[in-house]
Amino acid sequence: MNSLWTDTISRLTPYVPGEQRTGSDIVKLNTNENPYPPSPMVLEAIRSVDGHQLRRYPDPESVALRQTLADYHGLSLDNVFVGNGSDEILALAFLAYFTNNKALQFPQISYSFYPVYCDLYGITPNMIPLESDYSVNLDKFEPNAGGIVFPNPNAPTAMDVSEEGIRQLLAKHTEQVLLVDEAYADLGATSVVGLVNDYRNLLVSHTFSKGRSLAGMRLGVAFGHPELIDGLQRVKNSFNSYPVDALAQAAGIASIKDEEYYRSIMNTILETREQAVRDLRERGYEVLPSSANFVFAKVPGNESAARIFEKLSDAGVLVRYWSKPLLDQWLRISIGTPDEMQKLMAVLDA
Ligand SMILES: Cc1ncc(COP(=O)(O)O)c(C=O)c1O
Repeated sequence: MNSLWTDTISRLTPYVPGEQRTGSDIVKLNTNENPYPPSPMVLEAIRSVDGHQLRRYPDPESVALRQTLADYHGLSLDNVFVGNGSDEILALAFLAYFTNNKALQFPQISYSFYPVYCDLYGITPNMIPLESDYSVNLDKFEPNAGGIVFPNPNAPTAMDVSEEGIRQLLAKHTEQVLLVDEAYADLGATSVVGLVNDYRNLLVSHTFSKGRSLAGMRLGVAFGHPELIDGLQRVKNSFNSYPVDALAQAAGIASIKDEEYYRSIMNTILETREQAVRDLRERGYEVLPSSANFVFAKVPGNESAARIFEKLSDAGVLVRYWSKPLLDQWLRISIGTPDEMQKLMAVLDA
């Protein structure tokens, strides 16, 4: 507590990101990064940005990048908004649509940034319990009572809900925004981006951090009806009018163009994930069905997840653990390369 801080800042509990420990022998399976580098075309695009482009401000509206994304998804330019990572997209969207004095509904176990933004903006959170199998039951959201946000697939459980379920929710929930956070969608999960012109209150966010291997670049996207996108533009231009730098715009465009490369690394990740699920189950772990590049695994019997987390960390294998009710017997493990997953299994066996 500092006497110069405002009351809001003093009472915040900021988000704590996963540890970014570096070193060639570290097996980093704690922040759902892609274990493979971006496409060579992306690196080439970054290298080809020249000094004059860096001397100038970037295109504040990121038109070329947004048009590339619009073409890729069969949408128009005014359906697409880009920002400095999808965390920024979420922060702007919460401000644009959820600060209306109505409680914001999201799953009780979900992306832990949502309650942080609620705290920052003074939004009342209304956390909806999961089912006993950790799935999200969309019937539990109360339509039109306030905004709704959930990740699909959910984090940290990795379980998804169906497009049909989202359509049914949208048929009832028409007066407030539904934000579907599809951070993991380009790893083969269900996406409702194709529905944004059918529902004026549907906003879908994506990131380049996971499937596109660009977590270090900070690039996120929102897709929505032009009126929703206009709302985001208003917030952006009242906050930071150049959020996406020239390198990120160039990298983003190139990554969308090299579909073949990304499809191939995605298939490898999915194969590695299936093997990891088998290996963990053989060792007595309960693993929830995953539609993402990570798995959520309950430690066997009377084992302590906190202890296993610590032992793995001591051996240089980083996974994610939360000392919270309903989560404290579980580990969230990102899918790395086959070699990295073998090292994880070897340390678990030891
Ligand atoms: C569900 C979910 N949404 C959003 C993000 C933020 O991604 P970024 O800010 O890297 O785009 C993450 C990152 O882990 C996530 O898990």
